[in-house]
Amino acid sequence: MKWIRTHTNRTLLLACLIGLTANLGLGYGVNSGGDTSVAKTGNDAFSLPSANMSFTRRLDFNVGNSFFRNPWVIAPSTTKARDGLGALFNTNGCQNCHIRDGRGHLPQTDDDNAVSLLVRLSLKPSDEKMRAQVRRLGVIPHPVYGDQIQDFSIPGVKAEAQIRLRYETSQISLADGTTVTLQKPLLTLEDLGYGPLGEGVVYSLRLAPPVIGLGLLEAVPAQQIKQHADPEDANGDGISGRWNRVWDVERQAMVLGRFGWKAEQPTLKQQNAAAFVGDIGITSSLFNRENCTQAQSECQQAVTGSEDGAPEISDKLLNLVTFYTRNLAVPKRRNLEDQQVQQGQGVFQQAGCAGCHLPQLTTPKLAGQPEQSEQTFHPYTDMLLHDMGPGLADNREAYDASGTEWRTPPLWGIGLTEDVSGHQHYLHDGRARSLLEAVLWHDGEARASRDYVVAASRDERDALLAFLRSL
Ligand code: HEC
Ligand code: HEC
Repeated sequence: MKWIRTHTNRTLLLACLIGLTANLGLGYGVNSGGDTSVAKTGNDAFSLPSANMSFTRRLDFNVGNSFFRNPWVIAPSTTKARDGLGALFNTNGCQNCHIRDGRGHLPQTDDDNAVSLLVRLSLKPSDEKMRAQVRRLGVIPHPVYGDQIQDFSIPGVKAEAQIRLRYETSQISLADGTTVTLQKPLLTLEDLGYGPLGEGVVYSLRLAPPVIGLGLLEAVPAQQIKQHADPEDANGDGISGRWNRVWDVERQAMVLGRFGWKAEQPTLKQQNAAAFVGDIGITSSLFNRENCTQAQSECQQAVTGSEDGAPEISDKLLNLVTFYTRNLAVPKRRNLEDQQVQQGQGVFQQAGCAGCHLPQLTTPKLAGQPEQSEQTFHPYTDMLLHDMGPGLADNREAYDASGTEWRTPPLWGIGLTEDVSGHQHYLHDGRARSLLEAVLWHDGEARASRDYVVAASRDERDALLAFLRSL
């Protein structure tokens, strides 16, 4: 009798556990960022350090934060640690684009400048020699304007251009009779400071993405990411997934790309150093030349913020900013027990979203990085490139990424976009004004997912959106 009771209890317990995992679904936990996750909503939801960070390390986080937030000034200045802005730049601080550590926004009116939007440009490879150059160097910069338009400059130097957008709209009808209007930004460059751009130039509009949870994504072993790649679509699910092969400046080797909308940067340190030089005009040990081309002589000759050829930002400070970007915590999920949210998770799975927005990744034991060490977390990305069709294409190759490929962005924290940013602008150029619009732009390898959502009942669609808002 005694045995039977215990046994029954055990069976019950087991049944409960199975029910629970089925409900929560394998790999969909409340702690999107593992032990680093914070219970936070509101406009500073993306600005907290990893929950598992020690007190002493929080001091470093705060110093990193101040160099991410505070403006850089023109040299020479008494503010030695923070001078050297420009000569060409987009804005004077990281936080101006990654607003409250969240995403940027599109310019609202014609006279608002496009601060949190970057325009990358390069020459379109037209033969095998140029294509080989792209695979090796990333892109072929424009001979006069380089690979990014800087729309600001210090006095005495001309800005490169002003960025203007128009919108092309289109309509899509969903099975339940709802009509959704989509908009796509079209770029014009005005007030060109260095002459006409000429033929054969390709452009890519990029909105600043949120910067949470990046230390975890950096720590996932390359092998784990490559395991999910299926370049020839061997399993026949319509989703291939390729990894970008990019240049690692410190290791002097081609490695797996992880950061940026096309996974063009291998590490956070290099991503940050590239932002310092490209967006703010601050040189570092990784990129020790100012962002001026040979044709931009005033830029070349401008006073810099460095002495004796030392970089404008020291390695010590660059490492602190990198520590900061490694440790911005991901907020925990909300409303997991809500029935609609649970139904929506089923739709997410059914519609094939999880084929790219992978619910779970892990990190190994890491020396010197206790926060990211041995974590199981839920980023909803596979870190791979996918062909997303002609509508989203920028037609600008970067390393191995084609003109139609983009890296799956993580979806953790996406439900707090409105809280943090006061607006919703999704996708690489911010064209989508709602989560539904973002999904409706999916095409190419994600065509079947989009079609599923178009054909879904209103009930199913609302559930999917409720699930996304719980992330
Ligand atoms: C002018 C706007 C702008 C400024 C200023 C800016 N960023 Fe960014 N940031 C972007 C854009 C746009 C991207 C995406 C880049 C791409 O796709 O190549 C990005 C990407 C990133 C990423 C990678 C995020 C991811 O999910 O892959 C990090 C980290 C980052 N920036 C850090 C910084 C730091 C540190 C600074 C200051 C030194 C900075 N950014 C300044 C616009 C900006
Ligand atoms: C084939 C891979 C793939 C599939 C399947 C897929 N996505 Fe995506 N998703 C992407 C890529 C790549 C992007 C970025 C595209 C861009 O910015 O141009 C993206 C972007 C998004 C965004 C915007 C994220 C941001 O930060 O701006 C949302 C939301 C999203 N997907 C949700 C979904 C949902 C929901 C489904 C299922 C209905 C789905 N995705 C299916 C690859 C995929």
